[in-house]
Amino acid sequence: MGRTLTFKIFRYNPTLENDQAHIEAYRLEELPRLNLFSALNMIREQQAPDLMFDFVCRAGICGSCAMMINGRPTLACRTLTSDLPDTIELFPLPFFKLLGDLSVDTGVWFRAMGEHLESWIHTQKEFNPEAQEERMDNETAIKIYDSERCIECGCCIAGCATAQVYPDFIGAAGLNRIGRFLFDPRDERGDQEWFELVSTDEGIFGCIGMMACDDVCPKDLPLLEVFSYIRRKVTAMAVK
Ligand code: SF4
Ligand code: SF4
Ligand code: FES
Repeated sequence: MGRTLTFKIFRYNPTLENDQAHIEAYRLEELPRLNLFSALNMIREQQAPDLMFDFVCRAGICGSCAMMINGRPTLACRTLTSDLPDTIELFPLPFFKLLGDLSVDTGVWFRAMGEHLESWIHTQKEFNPEAQEERMDNETAIKIYDSERCIECGCCIAGCATAQVYPDFIGAAGLNRIGRFLFDPRDERGDQEWFELVSTDEGIFGCIGMMACDDVCPKDLPLLEVFSYIRRKVTAMAVK
């Protein structure tokens, strides 16, 4: 006999006049290997047709299903109910614009962050479609690859105390993005340019280094390593 799970879900539709934020409880019989993606779909099909939540890939790749699951920001599609107690509380990620219920808009924030950090390769070299791909050593390529694994889920921002207090803080996702381009030898940005971008309270100086982001990142990005690299680079730039 399986468990009866109780889902306590945050409900609020900001587009409806007079809607009040509240918690609603739904009960569901647990099935073997049930994950929260399937559980939420069952609730929507059987009990709450207007329940809003986001999923695309169901495989931990798109980052769209991040939510607060019993107080912890994580991916719903990668969470089995068997790893949770009988009562499961679901809230939307804080910090991001609430679209409704468990759905938030992370895209606007991530796009603005990317534009602010100019997260593209800065180079004066003319593009030559005939030229061979530029080579780099394996160690550098692996560091860039690791930083590129960010799926922009927003869990690190939701779990970051600084981000909750200072909305302009670029968070672990932003610092990771800086690391990705600092690692890249093809990016020709100079020390002064990097220093002005990174050495601010919105950048690395706003980070208190307790690494909640590292604890909650579902892709296990090497955030500690990236932050240490940025700090070393900024210190070296400052003493030049
Ligand atoms: S170490 Fe702490 S303050 Fe810095 S980005 Fe991570 S969660 Fe935020
Ligand atoms: S750094 Fe990790 S937690 Fe943050 S957005 Fe990227 S994948 Fe998600
Ligand atoms: S649905 Fe894509 S990461 Fe969960």
